[in-house]
Amino acid sequence: MRLQSFDLATQDIAEADLDGLHALSISVGWPHRRSDWSLFRSLGRGLAAFDDIGRVFASAMWFDHGETVATIGMVITSPRVQTHGGGRFMMEHILRECGARSLMLNSTRAAHALYLSLGFEVQAVVCQMQGIVREGSGAPKLDASAVEVLAPDDLPRIVALDKAAFGADRSVVLTRLAPLSRIVGIRRNGHLEAYAMRRPFGRGTVIGPVVAHSEDDAILLSASLLGDLGGRFARLDTRQPEGRFRTFLQSSGLELYDTVKTMTRGAPLAAVRPGQPGIYALAAQPLG
Ligand SMILES: CC(C)(COP(=O)(O)OP(=O)(O)OC[C@H]1O[C@@H](n2cnc3c(N)ncnc32)[C@H](O)[C@@H]1OP(=O)(O)O)[C@@H](O)C(=O)NCCC(=O)NCCS
Repeated sequence: MRLQSFDLATQDIAEADLDGLHALSISVGWPHRRSDWSLFRSLGRGLAAFDDIGRVFASAMWFDHGETVATIGMVITSPRVQTHGGGRFMMEHILRECGARSLMLNSTRAAHALYLSLGFEVQAVVCQMQGIVREGSGAPKLDASAVEVLAPDDLPRIVALDKAAFGADRSVVLTRLAPLSRIVGIRRNGHLEAYAMRRPFGRGTVIGPVVAHSEDDAILLSASLLGDLGGRFARLDTRQPEGRFRTFLQSSGLELYDTVKTMTRGAPLAAVRPGQPGIYALAAQPLG
Protein backbone atom coordinates (compact mmCIF):
# COMPACT_ATOMS: atom_id res chain seq x y z
CA MET A 1 0.00 0.00 0.00
CA ARG A 2 1.35 3.48 -0.83
CA LEU A 3 -0.02 6.43 1.20
CA GLN A 4 1.46 9.86 0.49
CA SER A 5 5.18 9.26 0.81
CA PHE A 6 4.66 6.25 3.06
CA ASP A 7 5.16 2.80 1.65
CA LEU A 8 3.37 0.46 4.00
CA ALA A 9 3.47 -3.31 4.12
CA THR A 10 0.74 -5.38 5.76
CA GLN A 11 0.98 -8.32 8.11
CA ASP A 12 -1.25 -10.59 10.14
CA ILE A 13 -2.16 -8.58 13.24
CA ALA A 14 -1.15 -11.59 15.38
CA GLU A 15 2.45 -10.90 14.35
CA ALA A 16 2.34 -7.11 14.65
CA ASP A 17 4.35 -5.29 17.30
CA LEU A 18 2.10 -4.94 20.36
CA ASP A 19 3.70 -1.66 21.46
CA GLY A 20 3.22 -0.32 17.94
CA LEU A 21 -0.48 -1.22 18.02
CA HIS A 22 -0.78 0.38 21.42
CA ALA A 23 0.91 3.56 20.18
CA LEU A 24 -1.48 3.59 17.20
CA SER A 25 -4.61 3.54 19.39
CA ILE A 26 -3.11 6.22 21.64
CA SER A 27 -2.48 8.37 18.54
CA VAL A 28 -6.25 8.52 17.90
CA GLY A 29 -7.06 9.17 21.58
CA TRP A 30 -8.32 5.71 22.48
CA PRO A 31 -7.87 4.56 26.10
CA HIS A 32 -6.84 0.94 25.41
CA ARG A 33 -4.04 -0.52 27.46
CA ARG A 34 -1.46 -2.85 26.03
CA SER A 35 -3.31 -5.69 27.79
CA ASP A 36 -6.58 -4.68 26.07
CA TRP A 37 -4.85 -5.11 22.72
CA SER A 38 -3.55 -8.51 23.86
CA LEU A 39 -7.07 -9.53 24.80
CA PHE A 40 -8.55 -8.46 21.45
CA ARG A 41 -5.75 -10.15 19.55
CA SER A 42 -6.42 -13.38 21.39
CA LEU A 43 -10.09 -13.18 20.36
CA GLY A 44 -9.96 -12.12 16.75
CA ARG A 45 -8.11 -11.89 13.48
CA GLY A 46 -6.98 -8.97 11.40
CA LEU A 47 -4.41 -6.93 9.63
CA ALA A 48 -1.79 -4.33 10.53
CA ALA A 49 0.10 -1.99 8.19
CA PHE A 50 3.64 -0.88 9.02
CA ASP A 51 6.45 1.14 7.44
CA ASP A 52 10.01 0.08 6.62
CA ILE A 53 11.24 0.73 10.16
CA GLY A 54 8.40 -1.24 11.72
CA ARG A 55 6.11 1.59 12.90
CA VAL A 56 2.45 0.53 12.86
CA PHE A 57 0.25 2.90 10.83
CA ALA A 58 -3.06 1.05 10.56
CA SER A 59 -5.05 -1.80 12.05
CA ALA A 60 -8.36 -3.60 11.54
CA MET A 61 -9.79 -6.69 13.22
CA TRP A 62 -12.76 -9.04 13.06
CA PHE A 63 -14.23 -11.41 15.60
CA ASP A 64 -16.10 -14.58 14.74
CA HIS A 65 -19.23 -15.39 16.74
CA GLY A 66 -20.31 -18.79 15.51
CA GLU A 67 -20.24 -19.61 11.80
CA THR A 68 -22.40 -16.85 10.41
CA VAL A 69 -21.90 -13.67 12.46
CA ALA A 70 -18.85 -11.49 13.00
CA THR A 71 -18.11 -8.13 14.56
CA ILE A 72 -15.48 -5.70 13.28
CA GLY A 73 -13.36 -3.34 15.34
CA MET A 74 -10.00 -1.78 16.14
CA VAL A 75 -10.14 -0.04 12.74
CA ILE A 76 -7.54 2.72 12.97
CA THR A 77 -5.40 4.71 10.57
CA SER A 78 -2.66 6.87 12.06
CA PRO A 79 -3.57 10.59 11.86
CA ARG A 80 -0.38 11.04 9.83
CA VAL A 81 -1.82 9.08 6.90
CA GLN A 82 -5.60 9.47 7.26
CA THR A 83 -7.82 10.38 4.27
CA HIS A 84 -5.52 8.67 1.77
CA GLY A 85 -7.39 5.42 1.36
CA GLY A 86 -5.84 3.39 4.17
CA GLY A 87 -9.07 2.86 6.10
CA ARG A 88 -10.85 1.63 2.98
CA PHE A 89 -7.94 -0.66 2.07
CA MET A 90 -7.96 -2.26 5.53
CA MET A 91 -11.76 -2.64 5.60
CA GLU A 92 -11.89 -4.21 2.16
CA HIS A 93 -9.35 -6.79 3.31
CA ILE A 94 -11.38 -7.54 6.45
CA LEU A 95 -14.63 -7.81 4.47
CA ARG A 96 -13.05 -10.35 2.12
CA GLU A 97 -11.96 -12.43 5.12
CA CYS A 98 -15.43 -12.23 6.69
CA GLY A 99 -17.00 -13.67 3.54
CA ALA A 100 -20.77 -14.12 3.72
CA ARG A 101 -21.11 -13.56 7.48
CA SER A 102 -23.59 -11.03 8.85
CA LEU A 103 -21.56 -8.16 10.22
CA MET A 104 -21.87 -5.68 13.04
CA LEU A 105 -19.63 -2.81 14.09
CA ASN A 106 -19.77 0.31 16.21
CA SER A 107 -18.87 3.33 14.12
CA THR A 108 -17.27 6.55 15.22
CA ARG A 109 -18.20 9.75 13.37
CA ALA A 110 -14.88 9.61 11.52
CA ALA A 111 -15.65 6.19 10.04
CA HIS A 112 -19.35 6.65 9.30
CA ALA A 113 -19.07 7.57 5.61
CA LEU A 114 -16.61 4.74 5.01
CA TYR A 115 -18.93 2.11 6.49
CA LEU A 116 -22.00 3.50 4.72
CA SER A 117 -20.14 3.22 1.43
CA LEU A 118 -19.35 -0.42 2.25
CA GLY A 119 -23.02 -1.34 2.69
CA PHE A 120 -23.45 -0.96 6.46
CA GLU A 121 -26.71 0.48 7.83
CA VAL A 122 -27.26 2.35 11.07
CA GLN A 123 -29.18 0.36 13.68
CA ALA A 124 -28.76 2.15 17.00
CA VAL A 125 -26.83 4.71 18.99
CA VAL A 126 -24.41 3.48 21.64
CA CYS A 127 -23.95 5.76 24.65
CA GLN A 128 -20.51 5.55 26.23
CA MET A 129 -21.24 6.28 29.87
CA GLN A 130 -18.22 6.80 32.08
CA GLY A 131 -16.80 8.65 35.03
CA ILE A 132 -15.69 8.42 38.63
CA VAL A 133 -18.13 6.18 40.49
CA ARG A 134 -20.01 7.92 43.33
CA GLU A 135 -19.48 6.44 46.77
CA GLY A 136 -22.50 4.47 47.92
CA SER A 137 -23.98 3.96 44.42
CA GLY A 138 -26.81 1.50 44.65
CA ALA A 139 -30.29 0.66 43.48
CA PRO A 140 -32.20 1.62 46.63
CA LYS A 141 -35.73 0.84 45.44
CA LEU A 142 -34.86 -2.59 44.08
CA ASP A 143 -34.31 -5.87 45.91
CA ALA A 144 -30.56 -6.43 45.65
CA SER A 145 -30.82 -9.80 47.42
CA ALA A 146 -31.68 -11.36 44.04
CA VAL A 147 -28.11 -10.77 42.83
CA GLU A 148 -25.57 -13.58 43.23
CA VAL A 149 -21.96 -14.02 42.24
CA LEU A 150 -21.68 -16.55 39.40
CA ALA A 151 -19.03 -19.24 39.29
CA PRO A 152 -17.14 -20.78 36.34
CA ASP A 153 -19.54 -23.71 36.18
CA ASP A 154 -22.33 -21.25 35.33
CA LEU A 155 -20.61 -20.45 32.03
CA PRO A 156 -22.79 -22.73 29.85
CA ARG A 157 -25.91 -20.98 31.20
CA ILE A 158 -24.30 -17.57 30.68
CA VAL A 159 -23.43 -18.48 27.09
CA ALA A 160 -26.98 -19.70 26.41
CA LEU A 161 -28.56 -16.56 27.87
CA ASP A 162 -26.12 -14.36 25.95
CA LYS A 163 -26.94 -16.17 22.69
CA ALA A 164 -30.64 -15.53 23.19
CA ALA A 165 -29.90 -11.81 23.59
CA PHE A 166 -27.09 -11.30 21.08
CA GLY A 167 -28.44 -13.61 18.39
CA ALA A 168 -25.17 -15.50 17.93
CA ASP A 169 -22.86 -17.71 19.94
CA ARG A 170 -20.26 -15.64 21.81
CA SER A 171 -18.88 -18.62 23.75
CA VAL A 172 -15.29 -17.93 22.62
CA VAL A 173 -15.47 -14.34 23.86
CA LEU A 174 -17.27 -15.16 27.09
CA THR A 175 -14.98 -18.07 27.93
CA ARG A 176 -12.00 -15.73 27.53
CA LEU A 177 -13.58 -12.85 29.47
CA ALA A 178 -14.86 -14.99 32.35
CA PRO A 179 -11.55 -15.58 34.16
CA LEU A 180 -10.70 -11.86 33.82
CA SER A 181 -14.07 -10.76 35.16
CA ARG A 182 -16.23 -10.52 38.22
CA ILE A 183 -19.57 -12.05 37.17
CA VAL A 184 -22.94 -11.56 38.83
CA GLY A 185 -26.35 -12.88 37.89
CA ILE A 186 -30.00 -13.13 38.78
CA ARG A 187 -31.69 -16.52 38.89
CA ARG A 188 -35.43 -16.97 39.19
CA ASN A 189 -37.16 -20.33 39.55
CA GLY A 190 -33.82 -22.01 38.92
CA HIS A 191 -33.25 -20.19 35.58
CA LEU A 192 -30.51 -17.66 34.93
CA GLU A 193 -32.38 -14.52 33.80
CA ALA A 194 -29.58 -11.98 33.80
CA TYR A 195 -25.81 -11.77 34.01
CA ALA A 196 -23.18 -9.03 34.01
CA MET A 197 -19.39 -8.96 33.89
CA ARG A 198 -16.82 -6.40 34.96
CA ARG A 199 -13.10 -6.32 34.15
CA PRO A 200 -10.14 -3.96 33.97
CA PHE A 201 -10.08 -1.92 30.75
CA GLY A 202 -8.69 1.39 29.51
CA ARG A 203 -8.70 4.06 32.21
CA GLY A 204 -10.18 1.79 34.88
CA THR A 205 -12.96 -0.77 34.83
CA VAL A 206 -15.56 -1.64 32.21
CA ILE A 207 -18.93 -3.18 33.00
CA GLY A 208 -20.09 -5.42 30.16
CA PRO A 209 -21.68 -7.45 28.88
CA VAL A 210 -24.91 -6.89 30.77
CA VAL A 211 -27.70 -9.18 29.58
CA ALA A 212 -31.10 -9.00 31.26
CA HIS A 213 -34.85 -9.24 30.73
CA SER A 214 -35.51 -5.72 32.03
CA GLU A 215 -33.91 -2.39 32.88
CA ASP A 216 -34.54 -3.12 36.56
CA ASP A 217 -32.40 -6.26 36.41
CA ALA A 218 -29.72 -4.40 34.43
CA ILE A 219 -29.74 -1.76 37.20
CA LEU A 220 -29.47 -4.39 39.94
CA LEU A 221 -26.50 -6.07 38.31
CA SER A 222 -24.71 -2.83 37.45
CA ALA A 223 -25.30 -1.50 40.96
CA SER A 224 -23.78 -4.66 42.37
CA LEU A 225 -20.70 -4.32 40.14
CA LEU A 226 -20.31 -0.59 40.84
CA GLY A 227 -20.81 -1.06 44.57
CA ASP A 228 -17.15 -1.30 45.57
CA LEU A 229 -15.78 1.02 42.85
CA GLY A 230 -16.56 4.29 44.64
CA GLY A 231 -13.98 6.95 43.75
CA ARG A 232 -12.67 4.93 40.81
CA PHE A 233 -13.14 5.23 37.05
CA ALA A 234 -15.70 3.00 35.35
CA ARG A 235 -17.31 2.78 31.93
CA LEU A 236 -20.41 1.11 30.51
CA ASP A 237 -21.53 1.27 26.85
CA THR A 238 -25.28 0.90 26.34
CA ARG A 239 -27.80 1.20 23.53
CA GLN A 240 -30.64 1.86 25.94
CA PRO A 241 -32.47 5.12 25.23
CA GLU A 242 -32.93 7.66 28.01
CA GLY A 243 -34.76 5.98 30.85
CA ARG A 244 -34.34 4.29 34.21
CA PHE A 245 -31.11 2.51 33.36
CA ARG A 246 -29.27 5.56 32.05
CA THR A 247 -30.65 7.70 34.87
CA PHE A 248 -29.26 5.15 37.33
CA LEU A 249 -25.86 5.20 35.61
CA GLN A 250 -25.76 8.99 35.73
CA SER A 251 -26.73 9.05 39.39
CA SER A 252 -23.82 6.64 39.98
CA GLY A 253 -21.34 9.04 38.33
CA LEU A 254 -21.28 7.54 34.80
CA GLU A 255 -22.08 10.47 32.50
CA LEU A 256 -22.61 10.41 28.74
CA TYR A 257 -19.10 10.89 27.35
CA ASP A 258 -19.53 10.09 23.65
CA THR A 259 -21.69 8.16 21.21
CA VAL A 260 -21.00 5.75 18.38
CA LYS A 261 -23.48 4.12 15.99
CA THR A 262 -24.06 0.41 15.74
CA MET A 263 -24.15 -0.50 12.05
CA THR A 264 -24.86 -3.89 10.50
CA ARG A 265 -24.57 -5.53 7.11
CA GLY A 266 -26.61 -8.62 6.28
CA ALA A 267 -28.93 -8.74 9.30
CA PRO A 268 -30.56 -6.25 11.65
CA LEU A 269 -29.43 -5.75 15.24
CA ALA A 270 -31.33 -7.89 17.77
CA ALA A 271 -33.85 -5.61 19.48
CA VAL A 272 -34.01 -5.16 23.26
CA ARG A 273 -37.57 -5.89 24.43
CA PRO A 274 -38.68 -5.95 28.07
CA GLY A 275 -39.47 -9.51 29.13
CA GLN A 276 -36.94 -11.02 26.73
CA PRO A 277 -33.16 -11.38 27.04
CA GLY A 278 -31.50 -8.23 25.70
CA ILE A 279 -28.07 -6.61 25.60
CA TYR A 280 -28.04 -3.75 28.11
CA ALA A 281 -24.27 -3.21 27.95
CA LEU A 282 -21.76 -4.09 25.27
CA ALA A 283 -18.90 -6.51 26.01
CA ALA A 284 -16.67 -4.01 24.22
CA GLN A 285 -17.26 -1.94 21.10
CA PRO A 286 -15.35 -4.38 18.83
CA LEU A 287 -17.23 -7.36 20.31
CA GLY A 288 -20.79 -6.12 19.79
C1 LIG B 1 -11.95 6.13 10.46
C2 LIG B 1 -10.55 5.99 9.90
C3 LIG B 1 -10.07 4.56 10.16
C4 LIG B 1 -10.60 6.24 8.40
O1 LIG B 1 -9.31 6.01 7.92
P1 LIG B 1 -8.74 6.73 6.61
O2 LIG B 1 -7.46 6.08 6.29
O3 LIG B 1 -8.75 8.19 6.80
O4 LIG B 1 -9.88 6.31 5.56
P2 LIG B 1 -9.85 6.51 3.98
O5 LIG B 1 -8.82 7.50 3.59
O6 LIG B 1 -9.79 5.16 3.36
O7 LIG B 1 -11.27 7.15 3.71
C5 LIG B 1 -12.41 6.35 3.74
C6 LIG B 1 -13.64 7.17 3.52
O8 LIG B 1 -13.82 8.03 4.63
C7 LIG B 1 -14.36 9.26 4.17
N1 LIG B 1 -13.41 10.28 4.50
C8 LIG B 1 -12.09 10.18 4.63
N2 LIG B 1 -11.58 11.35 4.98
C9 LIG B 1 -12.58 12.21 5.08
C10 LIG B 1 -12.68 13.56 5.42
N3 LIG B 1 -11.61 14.30 5.73
N4 LIG B 1 -13.90 14.14 5.44
C11 LIG B 1 -14.97 13.42 5.13
N5 LIG B 1 -14.94 12.12 4.80
C12 LIG B 1 -13.76 11.54 4.77
C13 LIG B 1 -14.57 9.15 2.73
O9 LIG B 1 -15.90 8.70 2.56
C14 LIG B 1 -13.62 8.08 2.31
O10 LIG B 1 -14.17 7.45 1.21
P3 LIG B 1 -13.46 7.52 -0.26
O11 LIG B 1 -12.57 6.33 -0.26
O12 LIG B 1 -14.60 7.37 -1.17
O13 LIG B 1 -12.73 8.82 -0.36
C15 LIG B 1 -9.59 7.02 10.54
O14 LIG B 1 -10.14 8.32 10.39
C16 LIG B 1 -9.31 6.78 12.02
O15 LIG B 1 -8.48 5.97 12.38
N6 LIG B 1 -10.01 7.51 12.88
C17 LIG B 1 -9.82 7.41 14.33
C18 LIG B 1 -10.21 6.04 14.85
C19 LIG B 1 -11.60 5.68 14.44
O16 LIG B 1 -12.54 6.45 14.62
N7 LIG B 1 -11.76 4.45 13.93
C20 LIG B 1 -13.02 3.92 13.49
C21 LIG B 1 -13.55 2.97 14.51
S1 LIG B 1 -15.19 2.47 14.11
